[in-house]
Amino acid sequence: MITEERKQTLLGASRRVQTGAYAPYSKYYVGAAVLGEDGNIYCGVNIENASYGLTVCGERSAIFNMVNSGVLRFHAIAVCGEGRGSPCGACRQVMVEFAGDVPVYLTSSQGEVRETTLYNLLPEHFGPDNLARGQSNM
Ligand code: THU
Repeated sequence: MITEERKQTLLGASRRVQTGAYAPYSKYYVGAAVLGEDGNIYCGVNIENASYGLTVCGERSAIFNMVNSGVLRFHAIAVCGEGRGSPCGACRQVMVEFAGDVPVYLTSSQGEVRETTLYNLLPEHFGPDNLARGQSNM
């Protein structure tokens, strides 16, 4: 259960880092913040490239930042984008790797907040559990 205070802290962190997004091509700025199972908040922004396909989304930046710090699970994620944005499919899949059905808080620089859950965004997903089951049958 995420407290209202923690939720607001996460949302605030995603809004703060959004200003540092590197998105000179799309000008679509994204900041993300995850609450790691160690209790710390890990942030990330989208990082674009002149070779467009190398772009990394804000959500994955934040999650990879957490994993780089040795933390492998998160309890909630906040994403601050533009307008009514929602995490892309690739980011949803990466989230499933490192979280269960956690709250996903979506906001924008305009301030509106929407709340959903990871399994609502990616139902019937393929995740680490599928492989663990497969291996135990070998
Ligand atoms: N982007 C994200 O950072 N997160 C998403 O979930 C959707 C898209 C970024 C990628 C690119 O830098 C820009 O938004 C436009 O697609």
